[in-house]
Amino acid sequence: MKALVVYDSVFGNTEKVAKAIGEALGPPEEVTTAPVGEARQEQLSGLDVLVVGSPTRAFKCTPGITGFLKRIPAGSLKGVQVSAFDTRIPVTGKTPGFLKVMIKLFGYAAEPMAKTLQKKGGNLKVAAGGFIVEGTEGPLKEGELERAAEWAKELAAY
Ligand SMILES: Cc1cc2nc3c(=O)[nH]c(=O)nc-3n(C[C@H](O)[C@H](O)[C@H](O)COP(=O)(O)O)c2cc1C
Repeated sequence: MKALVVYDSVFGNTEKVAKAIGEALGPPEEVTTAPVGEARQEQLSGLDVLVVGSPTRAFKCTPGITGFLKRIPAGSLKGVQVSAFDTRIPVTGKTPGFLKVMIKLFGYAAEPMAKTLQKKGGNLKVAAGGFIVEGTEGPLKEGELERAAEWAKELAAY
């Protein structure tokens, strides 16, 4: 099994989730977990699993991840299990009403990322994941790294 986890992270929370996912997918000989700035096109060849992760920023993924997704050649993910995840802030009773409306309209980073991977030919069997941070800079909500590992194991099972 060959897997690649590519992530972007500003405050380190998405990086923690990406590493938990990488570890759960398989041993280091089989799994590469790389920040988007270090990910190279050649790493896409011969892949069984590709996971892309980003913090949700202004309802979207980061420009780095957008660029990475754009550069994946059309059709090149045929036969690859793909999914995407983001980190995000939860909607609570304190979330201002206008923001709730915006979130309903524009959502989070992961779902459109997963759709892009699917459009490039990838097999999207495990729905995009969203992992919760308790504030802009974190920390991750308790239990999220364990939940991320469970999510990754679902992917590895295909
Ligand atoms: C400029 C900015 C925009 C953000 N926009 C959103 C957003 O639209 N939705 C959301 O849930 N969280 C939003 N957040 C919170 C980020 O999701 C949070 O900072 C991120 O998950 C932390 O991950 P990181 O440590 O990997 O950077 C935003 C944060 C910043 C700084």
